[in-house]
Amino acid sequence: MATYTQELRATAKSMVQSGKGILAMDESNGTCNKRFDALGIPTTEAARQSYRELILTTPGLSDYISGPILYDETIRQTTRDGVPFLKVITDAGMIPGIKVDTGAKNLAGHPGEKVTEGLDGLRDRIAEYYRMGARFAKWRAVITIGDGIPSRACIEANAHGLARYAALCQAGGLVPIVEPEVLIDGSHSLEHCYQVTDETLHAVFAQLYTQGVAYDQMILKPSMVIPGKGSSQQASVEAVAEATVLCLLKNVPATVAGIAFLSGGQTKEQSSAHLNAMNQRFSDRCPWPVTFSYARAIQQPALEHWSGDESRVAEAQQYLLQRAKFNSLASKGEYSSELEKRLALA
Ligand code: 13P
Repeated sequence: MATYTQELRATAKSMVQSGKGILAMDESNGTCNKRFDALGIPTTEAARQSYRELILTTPGLSDYISGPILYDETIRQTTRDGVPFLKVITDAGMIPGIKVDTGAKNLAGHPGEKVTEGLDGLRDRIAEYYRMGARFAKWRAVITIGDGIPSRACIEANAHGLARYAALCQAGGLVPIVEPEVLIDGSHSLEHCYQVTDETLHAVFAQLYTQGVAYDQMILKPSMVIPGKGSSQQASVEAVAEATVLCLLKNVPATVAGIAFLSGGQTKEQSSAHLNAMNQRFSDRCPWPVTFSYARAIQQPALEHWSGDESRVAEAQQYLLQRAKFNSLASKGEYSSELEKRLALA
């Protein structure tokens, strides 16, 4: 296990280097097809390849993105000219990452709750991805807030899975992104989200400790502490930033290499504003870099503009680059809603 220590530390550090974040583009075929379907884009491997090529060949992407997270189909694909995506990524100075969980499935005996699967065979898959050139991985666990849930069973099962995954990654040379997502769906309050996120992070770090995971060789990808989408009491940007930072300070060891948030269905503007407020107001209190690992909040405007039309690739790339840049600024506390109003393309 010790053989990878220095490399894992260095990789984790560069994933969250100043002004950069991680681009999640690891949608499973099912999720990607759902997003394509909504825009009338064919749900074919060829269309997914074109879209991922659009993203990865965006000029200047590496100014703001340390590395993309890929899906198994994508890591094996090439550009239409035959250049492996992995080469495109490393030639641009980015680090390739890979989603290794096999999805959130119904948790037996607990209606409405999920447990993430994928531990079987994981050691071998990690070895294959490392040989291919991947240097970090992602596993997403899902916690749903609802009537009487999450249960202790759901939180414990998911925390255990995340910790087993993280330990296997570190043994195989991949920096684990540990992603416990408390869903934004529902009508819960900010306080309720805080309580569930607090309990979840506490359980996750207890399991990471038990499994011997090295905190300085992992990235935490949490959700923000935010009222449910259906809540009648939405919170201010400042309130979300403060509740989120307090919850992290309470639960996340100072040696964790970095925090990289998911966007979770927040609007693109909210995702940038919340990250910005955390860095603007609390950077002196946070012992870790606080950045982004967004999918929808970076990709959606580009995906909508492209909509499968190859004549719009260059413009769509500008939409993508702009969200990457705004979130890069937010990771330094230098984003503002004025900037958004003045410069936003979409
Ligand atoms: P969103 O930013 O769209 O929530 O996606 C992040 C992610 O990687 C979910 O696993």
